[in-house]
Amino acid sequence: MKAKHLRSFIKIIKTPKTVYLFFLALLLFSFSDKKGSDPYIFPDLEHFPKMPVDPENIPTNLGVELGRMLFYDPILSKDSSISCAFCHHQEAAFSNAPMIRSFGVGGQKTRRNSPGLFNLAWGMSMFWDGRAPTIEEQVFHPVRDPKEMALNWSEAEMRINRSSFYPTMFKRVFGTEKADSILISKAIAQFERTLISSNSKLDQAIRGEIRLSEAELEGFILMNDQTKGNCLHCHTTDADVLGTTGEFSNNGLDGDIYDHDTIDRGLGGITGRKSDIGKFKIPSLRNVALTSPYMHDGRFGTLEDVLEFYSSGLKMSSTIDPKMEFVHRGGAQLSKEDQQKIIAFLHTLTDSVFITDPQFSNPFED
Ligand code: HEC
Ligand code: HEC
Repeated sequence: MKAKHLRSFIKIIKTPKTVYLFFLALLLFSFSDKKGSDPYIFPDLEHFPKMPVDPENIPTNLGVELGRMLFYDPILSKDSSISCAFCHHQEAAFSNAPMIRSFGVGGQKTRRNSPGLFNLAWGMSMFWDGRAPTIEEQVFHPVRDPKEMALNWSEAEMRINRSSFYPTMFKRVFGTEKADSILISKAIAQFERTLISSNSKLDQAIRGEIRLSEAELEGFILMNDQTKGNCLHCHTTDADVLGTTGEFSNNGLDGDIYDHDTIDRGLGGITGRKSDIGKFKIPSLRNVALTSPYMHDGRFGTLEDVLEFYSSGLKMSSTIDPKMEFVHRGGAQLSKEDQQKIIAFLHTLTDSVFITDPQFSNPFED
């Protein structure tokens, strides 16, 4: 949420009109047709791999709506100043572009760059270091993180249970008025699972609706050519359109500097294994033109910087991914022209339907 939005939101919640609005929302919610508790219908995703489902938390229409409200409600931060959307903006594919690090409660800087949020339902683990195994588990982190929302969960539960409208919503979604951290995380996770990006130019081309330009097609071929970009082992863009294998990898950003305590060890910081130091989750390249800056620490401001890095800036280290085959010569040595073609292809992964879809927007601003 932009400061402007935040201000207008705070203004809204201070006026008595809001009380009225909330009651109206509650009324609509209570009397909405039976479909509310029906399973949420996901879009037709023929060219996607099968979406994994969590039988313990099947999204329903009402559950997703509840999760959406919680995602946009600053009630889950210590001083009620920020919501999840403060660092995850829809227009930036739910990343915090163009911020390098995000600011949490009290202006504290987050340790890492906020990734975009989409197609999380296929994610095998959450965060750059994979420290949360599921989407549900992920939700616990930002709320209590002192650098993000800084609210302890018992206070969060109390606030939700004291609210004039959330208990009724929880009753309708989960059959109990008493919200606890598990149900709050389930509701937000239901909303997060619906954040599906499947309408980029590439998707439209795969569905035969449009054709890619010559340069875009050449960029695609260069990325998948093992003697050229050689990106395909990690960022899948052909048969598997998710844009990532979802694995962890050290792509050669740094050499062996990991003995310093201040260095971000990535996966190694979680598993404690030396062999995992410097490995980070391979990000999807979907919507990448919208989510600058790049990498876990936001070190590159532009896609040109990223392509320059893969061409000639790779560093050897003891945990480098063996799939970074060109590291011994500093990179793929792509010509400037080829780098531009790859960038042209990366722009075809932008999904303008996703970033303007009203079902993912701030429900308090409708
Ligand atoms: C203060 C800014 C901030 C707020 C507020 C915030 N996040 Fe994030 N979010 C981040 C940062 C930074 C990361 C990356 C952290 C990491 O990987 O260590 C992240 C990562 C994530 C991820 C992992 C995505 C992936 O692909 O691995 C998800 C999902 C997510 N946030 C959802 C949420 C939800 C839900 C909320 C609200 C309950 C929230 N965030 C609140 C900054 C924020
Ligand atoms: C061996 C696996 C691997 C290969 C091959 C690879 N990448 Fe990556 N890529 C990664 C990892 C891991 C990251 C995140 C690294 C980090 O932040 O520490 C990343 C990050 C990126 C990012 C930044 C995305 C973001 O949201 O911050 C872009 C863009 C990118 N890669 C493009 C490419 C291109 C183009 C190629 C081919 C020239 C390529 N990658 C080859 C593993 C790989």
